Amino acid sequence: MEKTADEILVLGMESSCDETAAAVVKGTRTVLSNVISSQIDIHTLYGGVVPEIASRKHIEKIDQVIEEALGQANVSLDEIDAVSVTYGPGLVGALLVGVGEAKGLAYAAGKPLVGVHHIEGHIAANYIEHPDLEPPFLCLVVSGGHTHLVQVRGYTEFEIIGCTHDDAAGEAFDKVARAIGLGYPGGPKIDAVSKDGNPHAIEFPRAKIAGSEFDFSFSGVKSAVLNYLNQCEMKGEKICQADVAASFQKSVVDVLVGRATAAAKKLGEKRIAVAGGVAANSSLRQSMKEACEKEGIRLYYPSPVFCTDNAAMIAVQGSYEYLAGTRHGLDLNAVPNLKIGSRFGK
Ligand code: KG4
Ligand code: ZN
Repeated sequence: MEKTADEILVLGMESSCDETAAAVVKGTRTVLSNVISSQIDIHTLYGGVVPEIASRKHIEKIDQVIEEALGQANVSLDEIDAVSVTYGPGLVGALLVGVGEAKGLAYAAGKPLVGVHHIEGHIAANYIEHPDLEPPFLCLVVSGGHTHLVQVRGYTEFEIIGCTHDDAAGEAFDKVARAIGLGYPGGPKIDAVSKDGNPHAIEFPRAKIAGSEFDFSFSGVKSAVLNYLNQCEMKGEKICQADVAASFQKSVVDVLVGRATAAAKKLGEKRIAVAGGVAANSSLRQSMKEACEKEGIRLYYPSPVFCTDNAAMIAVQGSYEYLAGTRHGLDLNAVPNLKIGSRFGK
């Protein structure tokens, strides 16, 4: 007998960057297990993610992570209805480990293979803890590689209405953290240090893009921080790490909150979801909350563990793709620059 949407079990896998992850989700939104093996310790030694090391570590860990995810969910591979996997965007070598593994499992177990867009997975992370959230809504996607404003029209239907012209928000956090001596991973460290700093101590720029009101640019603020550090050094002045971090963070957060709420107002969207690693930022969460309350907009964001890379979000999006009829063949390939809303082979 065919299973109902509430009964389907989907295995999700994620290996696009420096997290090897696997998860089992039931009925599209209920997370039965969510196993994440982080490589942060090894990449910290090099000040950032080393792609070759990331691929090798994924190979070492992936079998064990999948086994743990199935074990914790108390589900056998036989009972799974679909194998879903991130196939882009991300580091090609890292993606290939997950894609290869998923193809092998799907073929061996005779299960449908469903490729998932990593950023669409980040958006879907919002469904896990918010049963009332259904498309359409506006999503602010802020990760290490992406900064997008996305109109989520349906579970598998997306339209980008704004994006960054240069650095992603997370990338700016990571670069500034390195410049002020906080090291990798930058975002969480700037978040923590900023709590002791004055966000009004230094006025860093808030870039606007002429003619594209919902786009972003973060390379200017990054350069402004570097210039500020150089000037202090030339004058022999000591910098206050917490003040620089807090002022930088405020300039990024102000822009993100301003663009997201302006877009919601213009498009008549009453709901905004925030997604991606930077959505874990405490100042962004607080400022979005205040701005949305003022505008009468309902705000959604995932718990921090579902903001940064994980496989539960891939399994959730994989479930919706599966229900929508998305199926990939064994010719599924890693697509490092996969665009939101694109469908493999179409
Ligand atoms: O979504 P994610 O885990 O991986 C990508 O798909 O890129 O995002 C990672 C990014 C990194 O740039 C990291 O510094 C940033 O998210 N990040 C944060 C915080 N936690 C992670 N940025 C600011 N504040 C945080 N608390
Ligand atoms: Zn991510």
